[in-house]
Amino acid sequence: MTDTRKIDPATNTETTGHSWDGIEELNTPLPRWWLWTFYATIVWGVIYTILYPAWPLVPGATAGLLGYSTRAEVAAEIERVALSNADLERRLTSVDLTALQDDEPLHRFAVQAGRSVFAANCSQCHGAGAGGVVASGYPNLLDDDWLWGGSIDDIAYTVRHGIRNEEDPDTRFSEMPPFDWMDRSEQDAIAHFVRSLSDLAHDPVAADTGAGLFADNCSSCHGEAGQGDRTLGAPNLADAIWLRGSSHEAILRQLGTPRMGVMPAWQARLGEADVRAVAAYVHGLGGGEATAADPSAPAPAPASTAAPAPAPAAADDPAR
Ligand code: HEC
Ligand code: HEC
Repeated sequence: MTDTRKIDPATNTETTGHSWDGIEELNTPLPRWWLWTFYATIVWGVIYTILYPAWPLVPGATAGLLGYSTRAEVAAEIERVALSNADLERRLTSVDLTALQDDEPLHRFAVQAGRSVFAANCSQCHGAGAGGVVASGYPNLLDDDWLWGGSIDDIAYTVRHGIRNEEDPDTRFSEMPPFDWMDRSEQDAIAHFVRSLSDLAHDPVAADTGAGLFADNCSSCHGEAGQGDRTLGAPNLADAIWLRGSSHEAILRQLGTPRMGVMPAWQARLGEADVRAVAAYVHGLGGGEATAADPSAPAPAPASTAAPAPAPAAADDPAR
């Protein structure tokens, strides 16, 4: 074989020997720095596959000498978050709930956790937005009208022990007796009186008769002015907010066969931290009250009577 190496006279560079129409291709060598970088990446690549998980095998992949694993990394991260939450949860279970709002990070944690607890456990009855369902007697939790109390401690107690829950001895409990023994005309008169309390259309003469019957039969629970009693969960009948419906028929139905709401007790199912979290969430929805209401004091009826209808449930609703 003859030596085909040829030097291009103009650049003094070796040519490849290829020539097209008299134009020859130069064989310029790669720059040193490039070549060494290239070799270094190859060496790095080999070292990397030895140190870190790399080569796919049938059951998994080579583990690598350093024992690094993204899965372990994620597990450690989750554990770290759980640990920091464990601290918050521990503080939440022991904090005085009325002072929760002063502890900004803890309060934020509680409300956020409470929001998901609510979505998972409460929304099926109270509605995703906590607006309640009047037709079914699921109270609106957004307004400031409370059956059992709207302080954060009251709410936590309600959630913890439920309402008329047969399994929890500390459950909130009361029973409205049936008044089906009354004459139909007496029941009508009372219904007119009850509607008069919140300025709904009524017969004034019948309402007058009803007033006396109400004082004798109803005021022990619903209060003399129909303002309700939170120790009994007896609704305020003088505000414009109704649990069971405001129509004459709905009131008659409640008199004849009183319906009473039942709510599960959540203490066992959720644990104290989640009970408190969801109480903080509900308390923050808008109607939360600062301190536990004095049960012996009458509920603040006139304020909400004067207020413009705050929620859909407040209307003279057709729901029965
Ligand atoms: C099975 C349906 C149901 C579920 C689930 C439910 N509730 Fe209730 N809840 C009710 C009913 C019914 C009442 C009203 C009981 C009554 O008439 O006194 C009520 C009342 C309440 C009250 C009292 C309102 C007041 O005016 O005093 C609060 C607070 C409350 N629920 C919060 C919750 C929270 C928080 C959850 C989720 C952990 C929840 N509820 C889950 C049915 C339910
Ligand atoms: C022993 C206490 C008690 C007595 C007495 C009582 N109630 Fe009630 N009443 C309640 C309770 C508790 C509720 C709430 C039931 C529920 O959870 O749905 C209620 C609910 C109602 C409601 C539904 C309110 C709403 O917002 O939809 C009306 C109306 C009502 N009562 C009228 C009367 C009238 C009228 C009398 C007298 C004839 C009377 N009640 C006597 C305890 C009582």
